[in-house]
Amino acid sequence: MTKKVIAPSVLAADFGNLQRDIEMINKSDADWFHIDIMDGVFVPNISYGMPVLQAIAKHATKTIDVHLMIVDPDRYIKTFADLGSDILTVHYEACTHLHRTIQAIKAEGMKAGVAINPHTSVELLADVINDLDLVLVMSVNPGFGGQSFIENTYKKVRRLKEIITENNADTIIEVDGGVTDKNAAQLIEAGADALVAGSYVFKAEDPTKTIKELKALANS
Ligand code: DX5
Ligand code: ZN
Repeated sequence: MTKKVIAPSVLAADFGNLQRDIEMINKSDADWFHIDIMDGVFVPNISYGMPVLQAIAKHATKTIDVHLMIVDPDRYIKTFADLGSDILTVHYEACTHLHRTIQAIKAEGMKAGVAINPHTSVELLADVINDLDLVLVMSVNPGFGGQSFIENTYKKVRRLKEIITENNADTIIEVDGGVTDKNAAQLIEAGADALVAGSYVFKAEDPTKTIKELKALANS
């Protein structure tokens, strides 16, 4: 992938003005909508579910990148396809039969992603790397926006990039959690292709300008 991707996380948007924030992303330099689905079981927080995603998808004009932080995600693969998801990412830690889950996502016409928690080794993905469109490296413990970036992420991204190259795979590396102008360039240098940013974008005085700057940093 040549152009690096910026994916604002809608979790940090103003839900009272959701359509306004969606239109802002549509018009900005952002590439994807990052959608965090949390079930209060896999992670200690509940975000939003199907009706909200349906509302987002109605207005969004860019790729919909869904990050499922839920147990037993197989139950909802078809539902998320029907809701308009382009990329569906499940957690490694939530899947007993990961290979089967990946195939089921692809069978519904979506790109398949696997997310790994900060404690999960990238080596565990080597045997499925050729099946994966995307690996989402969590740079915070999943569950909440606004947390601090974990520095060990650089090392994980570098090693994951090696595994992808060694296997001749074309898997995209996405990094999620605590992404700001302080770590964006270094993450890209380590091998990241896509950066998720929630608080950094939506808490900014000018989110459109912040997205533009992040995109420029990632592609410099
Ligand atoms: C955390 C979510 C992230 C979160 C990122 O569990 O997966 O996508 O929204 O938010 P920031 O950028 O604020 O860390
Ligand atoms: Zn996420």
